[in-house]
Amino acid sequence: MKKAYLLVLYICISAMSYAQSTFKIIAHRGAMGYEMQNSINSFKKALELNAAMIELDVFVLPTGELVVFHDEELDALSDGRGPLESYPYHKLQEVRLNDGQSIPLLSEVLDLCASKTAINIELKGAHTAQPVQELLTDYFNSGLLQIDQVLISSFKWEELELTRALNNKIPIGILTDQDPLKAIEIAKRLSAVSINPYYKTLDQKKVDLIHANGFQLYAWTVNDIGDLQKMKDMGVDGVFCNYPDRGTELHR
Ligand code: G3P
Ligand code: CA
Repeated sequence: MKKAYLLVLYICISAMSYAQSTFKIIAHRGAMGYEMQNSINSFKKALELNAAMIELDVFVLPTGELVVFHDEELDALSDGRGPLESYPYHKLQEVRLNDGQSIPLLSEVLDLCASKTAINIELKGAHTAQPVQELLTDYFNSGLLQIDQVLISSFKWEELELTRALNNKIPIGILTDQDPLKAIEIAKRLSAVSINPYYKTLDQKKVDLIHANGFQLYAWTVNDIGDLQKMKDMGVDGVFCNYPDRGTELHR
């Protein structure tokens, strides 16, 4: 009886770890389906939901600070006006996101999430590669963050080239909204760990070919349960999702 119980327990634990290790739900801009995107509350919610990884977008300000925000212009997501990159930090501190929170510094999000979950930093703004590496180096050196807990990605491939030149070990993901097969060449050159395509550009053949070339696939942005299941069934390694708890609704 005891043996049978232990066997069932072993099978359940194995099944759970298999499910977790083979299909990652990445909390897109935190848990933006529940909280203001790229805000501290959004990242807190993602942690509360045990997200395996959080994703965020960064820009650098003219005064040198790295901030977490998605759009080039402030207008749609905050009470600020015009291009984010024209704001010195002391002015940006006066800006409120649409739910009243402030725009977080990258360091504030790292302080919140480091050692609790993996972190995907998307280099959204120009000239972000170097300041991001400088900041991360401080966290690595102080032991607050492990290098294998970070993934640097960008649609701006020149920022990824610079990232690799600055750090030959940091995990890189190649973001693309084009045919993902066209990203294989740069993925090889930069020794990337993943190609991160728009999910609608994927089919089984492309998934298999990208895997055969040695890269993982993290597809964006997948919220619908049917689409999530389709990605999982094709063997995609992970998806960016606004609802990081949706993985529990999928079957194997
Ligand atoms: O990195 C995946 C996804 O975040 C890319 O698109 O526009 O949401 O930054 P976007
Ligand atoms: Ca992003």
